Amino acid sequence: MKVSVIGAGNVGATCAEVIAFRQIASEVVLVDIAEGLAEGKAMDIMQCAANSGFDTVVKGVTKQYARTVNSDVVVITSGIPRKPGMTREELIGTNTAIVKSVMENALTVSPNAIFVIVTNPMDTMALAALKISGLAKNRIIGMGGALDSARFKYFLSQKLDKPVADIEGMVIGGHGDTTMIPLIRLATYKGIPVTQLLSEADQQEVVKQTMVGGATLTKLLGTSAWYAPGAAVAHLVDSILHDRKKLIPCSTLLEGEYGEQNIFIGVPCIIGKNGIEKIVDVTLNKEEKDEFRKSAEAIKEVNKELHNILS
Ligand code: APR
Repeated sequence: MKVSVIGAGNVGATCAEVIAFRQIASEVVLVDIAEGLAEGKAMDIMQCAANSGFDTVVKGVTKQYARTVNSDVVVITSGIPRKPGMTREELIGTNTAIVKSVMENALTVSPNAIFVIVTNPMDTMALAALKISGLAKNRIIGMGGALDSARFKYFLSQKLDKPVADIEGMVIGGHGDTTMIPLIRLATYKGIPVTQLLSEADQQEVVKQTMVGGATLTKLLGTSAWYAPGAAVAHLVDSILHDRKKLIPCSTLLEGEYGEQNIFIGVPCIIGKNGIEKIVDVTLNKEEKDEFRKSAEAIKEVNKELHNILS
């Protein structure tokens, strides 16, 4: 079982590290354009093996896609972050060009791979990956909801003072701090609705904390987070490679589900060896439906720039 991670930055290298420590795959190939970076990160991770006891082999290469041959899963974390003064359009232009070249290179040697998209703006970059490659929609997975749901569960566990493993909850909608929708109505502690355990004010606080979860960390760290994003990708890769059929909220192409089409947006999905194997239909109440529609509109607005670039 082979995974290639394109972009050996913070998120890509952490993803490789978690895959190795959990022995999710037998081989991970890190690829970057920065000379020596992927080789260095791979060597550093491999020097954990003797003390940490894993036998996953992690390799690093600079631009040599030939080494990614026959990957089962390709993770795309390559991209640039939005810099001060940079417009969203410029970011989309640059990252679309990166996703395009990565998809083309990776598909040449791994024509059957499932792709996990992490590069931001993630919902738009996942759509870009689909449009550029023409692959079947099940083979392109946007990672956002897996991360946002993990953050939601963390904040719920903190507020309830209960172990995170006993909490269930999911975040749907866009992967952005104004577009994500933490579904507090459906969150539970061991099957008990959290709405019975937390005051309205506490529920709203958890929702707010989740929505600004990424921004809070960027402020604290001075750059965007990597541990939870890397672990979220590894969790997805595990469900794909081992055909676990886990229900994980992911960004996928909607074709009428949830009343939307032609956009990638986060909804609960069954993730297995074929990638997105099923979109799970959850009945939303009126307020949640309205939020979902607003979220979709915001993504469509961002996608307009992508359509301009690709036309
Ligand atoms: N091919 C391969 N690697 C590339 C390419 C390319 N064409 N272009 C850029 N890279 C590499 C950079 O050299 C860098 O090492 O992608 C890496 C990105 O790493 P970081 O800057 O550390 O970014 P990271 O925090 O890992 O985030 C990656 O995920 O959450 C999103 O917004 C985030 O889009 C960003 C992505």
